[in-house]
Amino acid sequence: MGTGDAVYKTKKYIKDKYFLMLLPDDLIIRNNCSKDMIKIHKKYKGSVIASMKVKKNNVDRWGIYSISKYLDKENFKIADVIEKPKAKNAPSNNAVIGRYILPKNIFDYLKNQKKGKGGEIHITDSIRRMILNKNLFIGHKFKGKYLDCGSMSGYINSGIEISKL
Ligand code: G1P
Repeated sequence: MGTGDAVYKTKKYIKDKYFLMLLPDDLIIRNNCSKDMIKIHKKYKGSVIASMKVKKNNVDRWGIYSISKYLDKENFKIADVIEKPKAKNAPSNNAVIGRYILPKNIFDYLKNQKKGKGGEIHITDSIRRMILNKNLFIGHKFKGKYLDCGSMSGYINSGIEISKL
């Protein structure tokens, strides 16, 4: 039913105030992105989402966010986020990549999250509602190399890159 539905199913296991969520088909090699994000979370006391710039004509494959403030060179306060916008409606080309530090109270939002793009329940849509309610979400430009498994050529290339590790 979508990322939001999947996360909601973990509710009973989440005991801490924040938790790390990873999408297993987003691979980042040569640097521990999650570890860096935990540091950012501790420093700024907010939620953190990994991100990178994508090609403008590819924005409809990703969650795309706009920035309201630069916290430092690699971390940005997110103003808004939209799931898979058309290029003409995209607020930027800053894409969400599958590493998130989310607050436990996102479950209050997921509980009544309506279906969005493609009839799925998206974590992005609950994050959006939290941002509009003034919760701090930080976009983190990660170090390391991203391997895209979301297209056939990307998937094949990822296998080759991993075989070299
Ligand atoms: C999911 C998220 C999207 C995010 C992407 C990263 O989409 O819904 O916001 O940008 O992962 O890979 P999916 O790839 O599951 O369609």
